[in-house]
Order: sequence, then C-alpha cells, then structure tokens
Amino acid sequence: MATEPVFNMIAKTLAGLEPVLAGELKALGATGIREIKRAVAFEGDRRLLYRANYELRSALRILVPIHEFPVYHEKNLYDGIREIDWSKYMSVDDTLAIDAVTRGEVFRHSQYAGQLTKDAIVDQFRERLRRRPSVNTVAPTLRVNIHIQGTHCDVAIDASGDSLHRRNYRRDTVEAPLNEVLAAGMILLSGWNGRGNFADPMCGSGTLPIEAAFIATNTPVQIKRAGFGFFKWPDFDRKLWQSVVENANDNIQPFDFQIFASDKDPRARNATSINVLSAGLEDLIKIDKIAFDKLVPPELPGTLIANPPYDERLKLEDTAAFYKGIGDRLKKSWTGWDAWLISSNREALKNIGLRPSRKITLFNGALECSFQKFDLYEGSKK
Ligand SMILES: C[S@@+](CC[C@H](N)C(=O)[O-])C[C@H]1O[C@@H](n2cnc3c(N)ncnc32)[C@H](O)[C@@H]1O
Repeated sequence: MATEPVFNMIAKTLAGLEPVLAGELKALGATGIREIKRAVAFEGDRRLLYRANYELRSALRILVPIHEFPVYHEKNLYDGIREIDWSKYMSVDDTLAIDAVTRGEVFRHSQYAGQLTKDAIVDQFRERLRRRPSVNTVAPTLRVNIHIQGTHCDVAIDASGDSLHRRNYRRDTVEAPLNEVLAAGMILLSGWNGRGNFADPMCGSGTLPIEAAFIATNTPVQIKRAGFGFFKWPDFDRKLWQSVVENANDNIQPFDFQIFASDKDPRARNATSINVLSAGLEDLIKIDKIAFDKLVPPELPGTLIANPPYDERLKLEDTAAFYKGIGDRLKKSWTGWDAWLISSNREALKNIGLRPSRKITLFNGALECSFQKFDLYEGSKK
C-alpha cells in the first residue's frame, strides 16, 4: 500500500487549552506538534486529518494551510489569492464562505479582507469559465480561512466546516452554558480520566457531565455529528473515513464509576436530562435537582468541577457569601475530592477560603476566568 502524503495542519482552540490540545494530538500520533496562540500546528496524513476532526475534544476547527505570502498593501491580498488554483478545491457550482482574521496595519477590518478574498476567488472562476460560484455563509461547500498577522497572510481551507464545539447532542440549554470545547478542555486540564467519580453540582445544561462521560468511556466526541467540511472536498475518501469511525468506535470502553450532575434549578435538571438522553449517556450520568449545600457526596471520592454563577450573566444577591458557602461545603463534606471551580470573579473566588493549588487562566466567551484547583484533604482549612 502506498504511504499517504504528510502535510501541515492547524487545530484551533480556546486560549489556555493549547497544552491539552497538543497532548491530544500526540496521543493521535501527530508529528511536528507546535503550540501557537490559540492553536496547535502539527503534521500528519489524511487519516490523521479525519481522526483529528472526529476525536479531538479540545479543538474548535482543523485547518489545512494551502498558501502564504506577504501583504504590504490590500492589492497583495487579492493577487496572492489569485495565485492559488481554486479549481483544485471547488467547482464553479459549489458555494464558498470566507473567515478572515486580521491583525496589523494593512487591514483594519477583517470583513474587508474577507471581501477581497472572495472577489479574487470568484474573479478567477469568472475569467476561466464566465460563471462564478456563489457565497453561502451558513453551509458552504468550501470554507476558506484567511489569517493576516502584520504583513504575513496565511490561507487555509477549513476541514471542519462547522465549529467542532457543535457535537450535536445539545437539544436544550440554560443561561450561560459552557462551550463544549471549554468544558472538555477543563476536564482534561484537571487530569480526570475516568478512574474515579465525577461531580458537577451546578450542572446547568450538563455540558461538563456529558463531556466527562465521553472522556471516561473514550467515546469519540463527534459520534453524534452528521458532517464535516472535508466531506465535500474533491479528495474525500469515504472508505478511509469509515475506517476511522469504526476504529474509534471500537475503542469505546466501559466506565466503572459514576458521574453526578446536580443543580438547584428544575429547568437545569430538565435541560441536562434532555441533553444526556440525546448523547445516549443516561446510564452513566445520575441527575438530581438539589442545591449544593444539601448535596451529599458519593461515598467514593473523585473530581468535582463546577461553573458557578459569576455575578455577570447570572446575578447573585451576595456574591461573597455565595462563594464562601461553596468553600464551607467543600471543606465540610467533600474531603478526599479534588475540586475545581471556574469563575471570572477572582475576588469572589478568594471567599472559598482555601488556597488553590493550581490557577489556570481560561476564557469563557469574552470573560477572562480563573480555573482553580482546591485539594480537599483532611484538615485543609486554609
Ligand atoms: C453558569 S451556570 C452552569 C452552566 C453549565 N456549566 C452549562 O454548561 O450549562 C450555573 C448554574 O449553577 C446553578 N446554581 C446556582 N446556585 C446553586 C446552588 N446553590 N446549588 C446548585 N446549583 C446552583 C444555577 O442554577 C445554574 O444552572
């Protein structure tokens, strides 16, 4: 069998998750792994491209770079895009969308860089065929990614299409849900790997428990998703894709512990139940409607991760007292557990009354947060 060509790829992620994404890529057998800002660059073949899309938990999208060139002036962008033979990637009857990110002096507006890129692609088709492909920003055949940093332009095609946080299990939501990629990244950062119980006592729509169950059972995180951008690429190899899916699904493992999801709000309990059912995880996740101060931890310890209200989108009457209450409860009842809390409210976190053994900066949407670990061993009062 001929060996498949190896090429460069970029997995995009959220700030702070680069190390866990690099770890996931290493486990998939990627080479040339290099952490960059909100992304990890790596090398691999088409099988790896398909596996990255199907299995990576902490990636937002997988890009395949196809060209790079300097841009000192707007015209350089148009000309550089025209150097690419776009008929290799799409036909005139296909649709396209451009995602552009620009930083620096040459383009002050990303939207304009996107517009010029689109013009260059459609002009190339028009000149060759006297017809032009149309734009479809929602479900295009080809999604093109432009990244201009200073005077350097990288052009990539987007293998994922839709963002990989869309796992297709979310059927219901509550206010302020976590992005699925952030939730999975937080669990990976905590080091929890399914050898012990897991609890989220403020589960909202259940994102953390669901991602935890996927991790515990080694379930490919896109098992419910219907499609990816590369399905529409001219070189899509359906047989290779099917073998990637079969191999990954064959590696699903049993889980010997339990995942506990609870929330004081009945709407949250409903949302979690609906999402857990849609993810097919009802045997692994136990859901309760109970406030944290009444919750009795399971006998066997494990890892607790919670995303309490920050007093931003979800308001609190007395933020200091609320966080102090969480700390008191952790100290009193959760001995032996590792507890992790994420909040944008660093002042409030000080009221937990325990010294965090780790602090990691993460972003929940635009909110800069601290993800903090508290070791709850006997006598850990301060
Ligand atoms: C930011 S939301 C969690 C969102 C969740 N991580 C998700 O992805 O959907 C915070 C949740 O904490 C719950 N909550 C607030 N105070 C609580 C308490 N004392 N006990 C249990 N749950 C509480 C709220 O009902 C809300 O659902």
